Amino acid sequence: MKSAAFGKVILLGEHAVVHGVPAIVVGIDRGATAWVTRALGVTSELVLSARERERPISVTRDEPSDLGRAFAALLDACGVKDAVRVEAVTDLPAAAGLGCSAALGVSIVRALDDWLDRAPRPVNETIERAMSWEKVFHGNPSGIDATASARGGCLVYERNQGVAHINEIRFGKPLVLAIGHSGIPSTTRAMVEHVAKLRERKPDMVTQAFEGIRSLVGNARLALEANDHRGLGRLMDLNQMLLSGLMLSTEEIETMCRLAREAGALGVKLTGSGGGGCVVALADGDPEPILTRWESAGFRAFTSRVSTTFVGDSKRSPAP
Ligand code: MEV
Repeated sequence: MKSAAFGKVILLGEHAVVHGVPAIVVGIDRGATAWVTRALGVTSELVLSARERERPISVTRDEPSDLGRAFAALLDACGVKDAVRVEAVTDLPAAAGLGCSAALGVSIVRALDDWLDRAPRPVNETIERAMSWEKVFHGNPSGIDATASARGGCLVYERNQGVAHINEIRFGKPLVLAIGHSGIPSTTRAMVEHVAKLRERKPDMVTQAFEGIRSLVGNARLALEANDHRGLGRLMDLNQMLLSGLMLSTEEIETMCRLAREAGALGVKLTGSGGGGCVVALADGDPEPILTRWESAGFRAFTSRVSTTFVGDSKRSPAP
């Protein structure tokens, strides 16, 4: 049996969310799928295939690489005693801000539960176990990626003093997103450290930016609930300005933002860690003009339609 999980796009609030400010995130219709069989040897093995890689990567739980350690952490968190072979497939680009590692982590947790024939677990427990994998890659992530990956839909996510608060946002009019890759990989851990260092050096400046983001997120929630996509787009643009001020944008990201606006996007910003990775544009109905503009400038892109359907505790989300 295959188990799936969503990729994600942060609409507003990345980075500030690490420091206790709420963020808005949506699950997208790309993600990861995993399944488990008995191991061929005596050690548990993970075989990872990605659409963007020619060959799968294979690790055992004993390997000292990040992937090997993350896999071992997941097996331990799931209480797996026997040697298993886990196969996972993703159609998300890695190091791009779309929650590739979280989607893999969540789908593997679900596949292991399935293999162990466990009754469906509460979604929070799935997220908690997936976090043991996420922490190996990202240090101390806020948990927004794993949460969006496990739940899907549109969420306001806030983590204060280690406790996550999640509120679902429901809206009638689906969001049409154009998602483009700047072509530069970005590392969450490095970008989160960059912001932490900037905060040490310029606490007032960074605190002001975070407070600005807090109010943008509050207004974006109202705009979403009112199906006001024009208002939401403007708030995304303002969020991009604040992220640029925190030195998280790049020349490629700024070019992509300009091209998307010229092609009629209602709003556009980097999504995820910045410093490379992806850009998200909110389309005014038809995303094609934005995609065409990006692709003719050499940027890879795709679209995602987001509506508010919740997966909650279900073990299997729509297959990516
Ligand atoms: C990464 O997708 C989002 C960041 O805010 C990091 C995190 O929340 O863990 C940059």
